[in-house]
Amino acid sequence: MNASTIDAPRAPQRRKGSNFEKWGWLYMRVSGVLLVVLIFGHLFVNLMLGDGISALDFGFVAGKFANPLWQWWDVLMLWLAFIHGANGMRTIVNDYVRGAKTRATLVWVIGIVAALMILLGTLVVFTFDPCIGASTGGAIADACQAL
Ligand code: HEM
Repeated sequence: MNASTIDAPRAPQRRKGSNFEKWGWLYMRVSGVLLVVLIFGHLFVNLMLGDGISALDFGFVAGKFANPLWQWWDVLMLWLAFIHGANGMRTIVNDYVRGAKTRATLVWVIGIVAALMILLGTLVVFTFDPCIGASTGGAIADACQAL
């Protein structure tokens, strides 16, 4: 087998042990199916139910983040989509970037950015407090006072 030939699709593995690329491939399919449900559920609830898009404001988001169902829905969407997007970008970089050093650097940058954004997003969803910094006299401050 020379370097420019591609293995037959069902050729036996040459390496033993876990196969990162196979699990990555499978992850794209499984997360894709879950993302269809999560993303279209998210769009339907936010844009079509009730008053639709005109209901979207700070209070709407605060209301959703007060409910564990929507916290977990959004965090699941964040994790699945970010890992999906980052792994997809990794595939594109590995396919197209020719220099080994540039390729490794870009894959690291994608991984670090994805990890940071996932961490930040998860913290925001689970620590969000609408009452922090609520100015006095406003509807939000009044609601916070009543708690
Ligand atoms: C609506 C739900 C989604 C479905 C069903 C879906 C499905 C897929 C599938 C099956 C692949 C693999 C394609 C291949 O290997 O040839 C893929 C690749 C990819 N997806 Fe998604 N995806 C969805 C949402 C997203 C989102 C939200 C992002 C961005 C955050 C994203 C970014 C990517 C990227 C960058 C690739 C790599 C493209 C490539 O290899 O050429 N996808 N998607």
